[in-house]
Amino acid sequence: MEFQAKTAQPDTLVSDCIVIALFEDNQLSSSAETLDKACNGRITTLLKRGDAKGTAGKALLLTGLHNVAAERILLVGMGKQGETSAKQFREGVSAVIAILKEGPAKNACYFLNEVEVSDKDDNWKIRQQVEISYAATYTIDQFKSEKSPVISLDEIHLITSDSRSVAQGAATAHGVEYAKTLSNLPGNRCTPSYLAEQAEQLDREFDSVTSEILDEAAMEALGMGSLLSVSRGSRQPAKLIVMQYQGGKQNEQPIALVGKGLTFDSGGISLKPGPQMDEMKYDMCGASSVFGAIKAAAELQLPINIVGVVPSSENMPDGDASKPGDIVTSMSGQTIEILNTDAEGRLILCDALTYTAKFNPAVVIDIATLTGACIIALGGQATGLMSNNQALADELLAAGQHCGDRAWQLPIWEEYQEQLKSPFADMQNIGGREAGSITAACFLSRFTKEYTWAHLDIAGTAWISGAKKGATGRPVPLLMQYLINRSNG
Ligand code: BES
Ligand code: MN
Ligand code: ZN
Repeated sequence: MEFQAKTAQPDTLVSDCIVIALFEDNQLSSSAETLDKACNGRITTLLKRGDAKGTAGKALLLTGLHNVAAERILLVGMGKQGETSAKQFREGVSAVIAILKEGPAKNACYFLNEVEVSDKDDNWKIRQQVEISYAATYTIDQFKSEKSPVISLDEIHLITSDSRSVAQGAATAHGVEYAKTLSNLPGNRCTPSYLAEQAEQLDREFDSVTSEILDEAAMEALGMGSLLSVSRGSRQPAKLIVMQYQGGKQNEQPIALVGKGLTFDSGGISLKPGPQMDEMKYDMCGASSVFGAIKAAAELQLPINIVGVVPSSENMPDGDASKPGDIVTSMSGQTIEILNTDAEGRLILCDALTYTAKFNPAVVIDIATLTGACIIALGGQATGLMSNNQALADELLAAGQHCGDRAWQLPIWEEYQEQLKSPFADMQNIGGREAGSITAACFLSRFTKEYTWAHLDIAGTAWISGAKKGATGRPVPLLMQYLINRSNG
């Protein structure tokens, strides 16, 4: 699917389908008004008869309008004029693409920038139109004998002169798609080695991206005893995947993105219960968001430097697996008593975070499906955000709020650190039932003292369970918004 900025008049534009906004109380958008005049008040008539009501998220397809050059007109409701909310705008665009993807139009042109959306600018509207439209065409049929029907729509034009915003939307959409594709792969396909190959692929695809893969011997030499304790029980060797995107000046400090890449988390010796254990193939969604963000940044040629660090492993039970009570030494030199082998994400992340310091990063953001407790606290709406720097936390909160991929901050006060005290080692890897997401972040904070750091717990937002099971591609939009903001400032 291609997206393009365009300027045109709604009545004279030759198109398979033009998309026009209507509002409640018989109010027309300016394009609807132009069309209405061209075709002798047909649209006003439809509104008066109640065939179209302007209700947000309701769309109506018309054909055969006189004096209109387009083959079809798709009228979409956007709520009360001047009061369209971000949610209503998104619903409207979703309704549009749901109809368009059924065909037969091969191209369409959205006249939707003229809709005023509360608190949102043109850049937001353009990107939402692109991202929502692109995401609606995503299919997972790789492992199905019967493939999804081919979508005839392959070109969407947006009425705007702002082609940069269109490009931002398209790149983000591609990053989201890439993250979803990797995340949805089963654990027997998407192994640590497979993720390492993805990094090499990005390296080949973009001149601006280089990759380096550290194997278990290299990690051993670096003293990553914590990370390696997680892969002990697995037949799949762990990998530490490093990707560098160079879009800024040679010596400009990079933004580091560190993504948890557990390609399957069985819990290890502290084995998880059976129901829904399949969903632990999604325990690499942090990693896939790093891949998605780097791909999107490279595609957009953002003028910044990014380093992506992905510690990747399986967590499996085995005769050689780590056991509750085992004590390991992390790369930082701090010792950890493993009380629960299912709290493995922090064990691989802590060594990756220590390693990341070598890039002299401006900021470090880790992204992880870290705790079930985060799902209990925030559900599927907000990503959990914890940080040792309020300015960075505020930037990430604002980025998420702006693009609709929202995060919510939780405190990591000193007092919570108490819960990680161990009688035998410098710390233990769990902090008890209370404040589980916070104590997990407190654990990580012991490895991030040297730099500005934020942690995104995406356990609740990275995928959807149940009948519509699938990865969401979050928080790629949030990360992209943050990276774009950094590029501008
Ligand atoms: N990957 C899980 C967290 C998770 C669980 C994400 C369910 C999404 C859905 C993580 O490795 C884990 O098992 N965490 C434990 C920590 C506990 C043992 C302190 C958890 O949340 O139960
Ligand atoms: Mn676990
Ligand atoms: Zn896990």
